[in-house]
Amino acid sequence: MSTPGAVAAGTDAPALVPPPLSLYVHLPWCVRKCPYCDFNSHQARGPLPFEAYVDALLADLDHDLPLAWGRTVHSVFFGGGTPSLFPPAQIDRFLQGASARLRFAPGLEVTLETNPGTAEHGRFEDYLAAGVNRISFGIQSFDDGCLRRLGRIHDAAQAETAVRLAQDAGFDNLNLDLMYALPGQTAAMALHDLERAIALGPAHLSHYQLTLEPNTVFAARPPQDLPDEDHAWEMQEACQARLADAGYAQYEVSAYARPGRQCAHNLNYWRYGDYLGIGAGAHGKLTLGATQQVLRRWKARHPAAWQAAAGSAAAIGGEEYVAPQQRPFEFMLNALRLVEGFSLAAFQARCGLPVEAIAAPLEEAVARGWLERSGERVVPTALGRRFNNDVVALFLPG
Ligand SMILES: C[S@@+](CC[C@H](N)C(=O)[O-])C[C@H]1O[C@@H](n2cnc3c(N)ncnc32)[C@H](O)[C@@H]1O
Ligand code: SF4
Repeated sequence: MSTPGAVAAGTDAPALVPPPLSLYVHLPWCVRKCPYCDFNSHQARGPLPFEAYVDALLADLDHDLPLAWGRTVHSVFFGGGTPSLFPPAQIDRFLQGASARLRFAPGLEVTLETNPGTAEHGRFEDYLAAGVNRISFGIQSFDDGCLRRLGRIHDAAQAETAVRLAQDAGFDNLNLDLMYALPGQTAAMALHDLERAIALGPAHLSHYQLTLEPNTVFAARPPQDLPDEDHAWEMQEACQARLADAGYAQYEVSAYARPGRQCAHNLNYWRYGDYLGIGAGAHGKLTLGATQQVLRRWKARHPAAWQAAAGSAAAIGGEEYVAPQQRPFEFMLNALRLVEGFSLAAFQARCGLPVEAIAAPLEEAVARGWLERSGERVVPTALGRRFNNDVVALFLPG
């Protein structure tokens, strides 16, 4: 009888080699739910159970540990929700507990997502002392009219103040999230947002096209003056050129960085790396070397339900083994977002499959001008990046 997800190919199939491991920690509350957001984030109603939630995170981590025995963690990411609602002392307690349970790589990247509307004087110093070394700000826009329409809890001046507070506290590795193709936004307005962001000198910028996600207020009642796809593409191109000019190289569909400042945590996702996902609704992906399987595990979504069950199997919302024939699609979904593309050796090690498993779609993508292959490396062309969904679809299991 075969094990679920085990490689069914012949004995000459390459082995699955466990890739670098990251740790994702989900902190699910926000001051207010934004109308465009479909993340697992919940408006805080009354005082939040910070201490009990951190206890639950450590219990959840204990329960997942057998999936990662002996492995080193290369990055930690506190995502949300709004992690900056958590007091630094609780972030400190979690990091101490996690590093007692798992080996942390020296100097690993530790990111905390922050809503500028929650920034308080003195708080950043304490996050830094706790071991956080990268702050990711949800700025979205520097136009007060746009911010209001996005339902944000801060204005542009507060966003700038928050970034400066973090810089003054000693953070030199900052990311700013901006969104474009906003209701009523022109290309000139999108460029103006970028100028204000660049003037703050962050190491990294994430530039997301606003999308209408199912089950959001915007999906139910779409703003009437959203730019169409062609205008959104023009904005993207103009902004990309301006960012390149300012020294921010695009390395992923929505990510730009100064040299050496790419986000290690997100890069590991896009390189089809492994990650433990702890906290309400968090997703994990683990390569199990001994049984040659890839496991996906996700946690119960609702904060109270997850918290009550943390540390037991009841906190697991579901899990599945990724069948060998599904792995190429998953790998491409991630790797083809990257400007660097991927190496065939990485494909084999992370999917446990020979290159022949993707020979036909690879050849087709090259013939259509979507991918370029040079020896070991496969890189998406500009056309391939624009039609990323079509390229990835070629790798769906037949
Ligand atoms: C989980 S939020 C983290 C930051 C923090 N919660 C905040 O909003 O200030 C991550 C980022 O996803 C982006 N985002 C959320 N919903 C989006 C949507 N519908 N379309 C495009 N980007 C979106 C925003 O730029 C946001 O800053
Ligand atoms: S965009 Fe950020 S602040 Fe707004 S609801 Fe989503 S997670 Fe919360």
